[in-house]
Amino acid sequence: LTRERYPVQRLPFSVVSEEDLAAFERITPGRVVTDPEELEASNVDWLRTVRGCSKVLLKPQTTEEVSHILRYCHERNLAVNPQGGNTGMVGGSVPVFDEIILSTALMNQVISFHGVSGILVCQAGCILEELSRYVEERDFIMPLDLGAKGSCHIGGNVATNAGGLRFLRYGSLHGTVLGLEVVLADGTVLNCLTSLRKDNTGYDLKQLFIGSEGTLGVITAVSILCPPKPRAVNVAFLESPFYVLIETSGSRAGHDAEKLSSFLEHVLDFGLVTDGTLATDQRRVKMLWALRERITEALSRDGCVYKYDISLPVERLYDLVSDLRARLGPQAKHVVGYGHLGDGNLHLNVTAEAFSASLLGALEPYVYEWTAGQQGSVSAEHGLGFKKKDVLSYSKPPAALQLMQQLKALLDPKGILNPYKTLPARA
Ligand code: FAD
Ligand code: MLT
Ligand code: ZN
Repeated sequence: LTRERYPVQRLPFSVVSEEDLAAFERITPGRVVTDPEELEASNVDWLRTVRGCSKVLLKPQTTEEVSHILRYCHERNLAVNPQGGNTGMVGGSVPVFDEIILSTALMNQVISFHGVSGILVCQAGCILEELSRYVEERDFIMPLDLGAKGSCHIGGNVATNAGGLRFLRYGSLHGTVLGLEVVLADGTVLNCLTSLRKDNTGYDLKQLFIGSEGTLGVITAVSILCPPKPRAVNVAFLESPFYVLIETSGSRAGHDAEKLSSFLEHVLDFGLVTDGTLATDQRRVKMLWALRERITEALSRDGCVYKYDISLPVERLYDLVSDLRARLGPQAKHVVGYGHLGDGNLHLNVTAEAFSASLLGALEPYVYEWTAGQQGSVSAEHGLGFKKKDVLSYSKPPAALQLMQQLKALLDPKGILNPYKTLPARA
């Protein structure tokens, strides 16, 4: 799929040799995967839209092992694809050619948790849902939540700067991540794993790696601030003409219920809402959220999906959906708009029975031009990865692009980390 639909040339990296495999076996004994069947799942992305042909996957358990792997690959000029839960939406998580897959699957230990401040320090391969469970047992919650929680890793979340379902309430990872440990392309360990709320000692280097999609370093550990578990949670699921799911979280059930009912009275009086349902108990709350969280999965069963993830002024959020329905007509099976309303983030998804170059031609660059016309962003939360790297310039000026290229060259001069991703190929 990869090379047919997205033409790209392999860069002159070395090819993994028997000696390399022996070296990896010394670094990660018993954790060098070369079995093609076992590799298959890591070579294909969640959406099954891009496929690589890596012949080797490494499963380090410690930062030191990651450092040894990268030092070796850097010296040998071997390309590396960092991989977490492989739930990414933009083809960044799988190799394009034969890059070595460096999986964080076995880096799944909690390092510390502070029961008063709510600061969690853990390895990058911890699964988000398991971390949620861990902190909830201690009366805190993770500041982020997403439909992929059962598979995605916290390192992957940080590497993509995932937004998700709690963004409006608890803010971006750029605010909640307090520290990171990162292994640079040459194997240097950058220990910025502090747990301080305030730290103005020069440039805030960790921010560079939040959203860098594995192109600047491998995140090995994360320090993150968890909010206290809310004592009262209300979920409202309303209709007319859109479905809106609202969650409130606060500390006094009576007070929160009162505020929510006065809001509902108001929107019903004004005819903004015609029908809906409320939930406070955990089982029903989860059921209502599942309706929202499983849209991605439902769409992936509707055929070939063209996915866009854009930031727009909230008042224009749905215009592009209506516009495209008219523009595409019967070429599209469904044109669907959902997302994160409070964040001004539209997930525009177009489905068709099969891939069609003419449908793609009707969508692109139209969607990107439309978005740029609103001063929006062509990637609100999924990143650029492999599929969106060439549209970066719709949302960033040439000087920003140039600085990004310079930072990449500084941190990864041989370009071994996640090549072909995030940055457009140099002319
Ligand atoms: P992967 O998919 O494995 O990797 C993603 C990128 O990060 C790749 O470029 C990879 O190289 C890099 N990477 C992974 N781990 C590391 C590391 N330790 N160090 C350096 N680089 C690394 N995204 C949202 O933002 N909001 C949502 O609401 C949301 N919902 C989703 C719902 C579903 C059902 C699915 C399938 C996906 C959803 N996503 C969402 C997209 C995806 O889950 C997120 O991008 C997630 O954060 C990726 O984490 P991962 O561990 O699966 O990373
Ligand atoms: C979501 O909000 O459901 C995710 O970002 C995944 C998607 O866009 O489908
Ligand atoms: Zn989303």
